[in-house]
Amino acid sequence: MRSATLSRRMNRIKASAIREILKVTERPDILSFAGGLPAPEAFPIAELARAHAETFDREGAAALQYSTTEGFAPLRAWIAERMRKRGLAATPEQVLITTGSQQGIDLVAKVLLDPGDVVVVESPSYLAALQVFEGYEAGFATVGSDEHGMRVDQLERVLRRSKPKLVYLVPTFQNPKGTTLALERREQLARLAAEHGVPVLEDDPYGELRFSGAELPPVAALERRAPIIYLSTFSKTLAPGLRIGWAVGAAETVRALTVAKQAADLHTSSIAQRAVARMLESFDYPAHVSRIRALYGERRDAMLDALAREFPVGATWTRPEGGLFLWVCLPGGVDAAQLLPQALREHVAFVPGAPFFARAPDRSCLRLNFSNQPPELIAEGIRRLAAALARIRQADVAAEPVARSVLPQTA
Ligand SMILES: Cc1ncc(COP(=O)(O)O)c(C=O)c1O
Repeated sequence: MRSATLSRRMNRIKASAIREILKVTERPDILSFAGGLPAPEAFPIAELARAHAETFDREGAAALQYSTTEGFAPLRAWIAERMRKRGLAATPEQVLITTGSQQGIDLVAKVLLDPGDVVVVESPSYLAALQVFEGYEAGFATVGSDEHGMRVDQLERVLRRSKPKLVYLVPTFQNPKGTTLALERREQLARLAAEHGVPVLEDDPYGELRFSGAELPPVAALERRAPIIYLSTFSKTLAPGLRIGWAVGAAETVRALTVAKQAADLHTSSIAQRAVARMLESFDYPAHVSRIRALYGERRDAMLDALAREFPVGATWTRPEGGLFLWVCLPGGVDAAQLLPQALREHVAFVPGAPFFARAPDRSCLRLNFSNQPPELIAEGIRRLAAALARIRQADVAAEPVARSVLPQTA
């Protein structure tokens, strides 16, 4: 079949570097810290299977019929209640069910951005959100980050200079760094959003997964006058294959998102929504989330211990209090993309940091996922990674040409 001529827009959308890397790292012989995969042993498979069977049994016709764009009412009510417990007061009508929070990002961009509009993002930021904003032909203004998240003290200047249409951030256990926005910065961000009337997209897929430190309120809970849209998902607490996320915002904003969603996919899978709502009637969700927290906390500790043991002086890394990732910066000017082929020879993988930057990438950093491997394999993988790093730091090996076959296309 002849290929179709693509839109100009498609020139701007780069294939996700992570997806390309995952094609290599999904090889069974590779010990991968590359993907953002939750631990599959934490999926409540039996409970979901039972809930799906009951859904087919008792409400099969309704579950298989077209349904409303807003989402299944009992599920929206459950989410509104859960959000209230997490500090964000919202009515069920303010909750829109989305096909994963990734769709939430897309819908928000669709309703807020015109070509040429500026989006403020953290540096580095979640790669697939950058991809969405590029698709809507937005430009970027970046704000740096440190161990306490976005440098909100730099934001006011950027707001004045760039007049952005949107500020996008992952305040809690950020992807890729694992860092969390400090309370004072949350308050300052909410205040700035209210004063400047600039919408903030608070993307929070990881907020439930805290294993140390004190809980913090969502930014959206801090300032009622600020136009904040909040996103979350069941991807990291139940299972990503369900593709159920949600957006919470002011009634009018949720209405616009609903119209945009109608055009995108009519509605999120009715079967999945009804089965999850049914399961949640009797499932001890808080206990389940506690188990995931304990599991990931142990894995984070295993990775921090292994890094301290194996990595050379001068390497630095973040110490996340939750989530799935940590961020390592290498000493001596080593480019993480150059380390990857050497690591693959050691049968270990990660994602180089450069693609996470909207501009001016720091090439010395890389993202490591700790949720998807047990502690003993984490220790082994970090040992292999340190060996690859030691090898690449010897000048002769660094200069050696790398076989194209082991290089991901976009790394
Ligand atoms: C920051 C961030 N936002 C959104 C998503 C998308 O999640 P979902 O599976 O809910 O679409 C991810 C997934 O890894 C993520 O890390």
